[in-house]
Amino acid sequence: MKKSALFTVAVPTLLLLMIAVAGSQEEIEFVDNSDFSNAQRPPSVFRHEEHNEIAELEDCAECHHIYDDNGQKLEDESSEDQRCSECHESRSSGRKPSLTRAYHVNCKGCHLKQKKGPFLCGECHVKQ
Ligand code: HEC
Ligand code: HEC
Ligand code: HEC
Ligand code: HEC
Repeated sequence: MKKSALFTVAVPTLLLLMIAVAGSQEEIEFVDNSDFSNAQRPPSVFRHEEHNEIAELEDCAECHHIYDDNGQKLEDESSEDQRCSECHESRSSGRKPSLTRAYHVNCKGCHLKQKKGPFLCGECHVKQ
């Protein structure tokens, strides 16, 4: 009796854990747009690891930033454990841009500044 209880509980738990671990190691290919209630465009291409390698971005806080209460960006701190949408909402507040603007300023802003990377709508929001 005891043994079968172990199997009905422990085995499925282990399987779920394995799926969870495998999932978290999967490379991001598109930005998750599920926080936009009525998305107008297909989600933007973004192969996280590959992108940051070819763009030579080593500082995680280039995108995953943290600001103090005075709006100063904190050096040596980053927020990759949080989604952009945990801080950026559908509307801007003060100097904190809305979620859409946060992405456009971050992504497109850097591409325009560096004159590298896509800046046309359809180059990021690629039809699938
Ligand atoms: C922990 C909260 C937090 C997270 C997570 C966060 N932001 Fe921000 N972000 C802020 C705050 C606060 C400001 C306003 C800073 C100021 O006062 O100028 C800001 C400002 C910005 C700005 C305008 C200033 C600038 O840096 O150009 C952009 C663009 C931006 N965020 C993009 C993003 C993106 C993209 C992500 C996810 C990869 C993200 N943010 C994650 C809090 C956050
Ligand atoms: C060019 C911008 C950019 C840079 C640089 C960057 N990231 Fe990200 N990262 C993102 C975006 C955008 C997401 C998706 C955020 C969302 O969905 O809210 C993300 C998601 C993540 C996630 C959660 C999703 C997952 O993979 O499970 C982790 C962890 C992460 N980044 C770690 C890092 C680390 C560590 C670094 C530095 C070595 C880094 N990132 C550098 C933009 C960036
Ligand atoms: C700090 C600078 C910077 C930021 C921020 C940035 N990029 Fe880029 N990105 C680049 C550079 C540089 C390239 C060109 C790399 C090359 O081809 O040499 C690039 C290339 C790309 C490409 C084409 C190559 C590929 O990986 O398919 C896509 C798509 C892209 N970026 C999407 C994004 C998205 C989406 C974001 C925001 C979540 C973003 N980028 C944020 C610098 C940046
Ligand atoms: C450098 C890449 C990039 C370019 C260029 C770009 N976007 Fe985006 N955009 C994003 C990212 C990343 C998001 C966050 C959610 C997603 O991926 O759809 C976003 C979000 C959006 C959203 C909110 C979500 C939705 O689907 O309703 C709209 C609307 C949008 N973009 C329209 C445009 C338009 C119009 C253009 C051209 C003028 C454009 N974008 C150019 C990367 C880009």
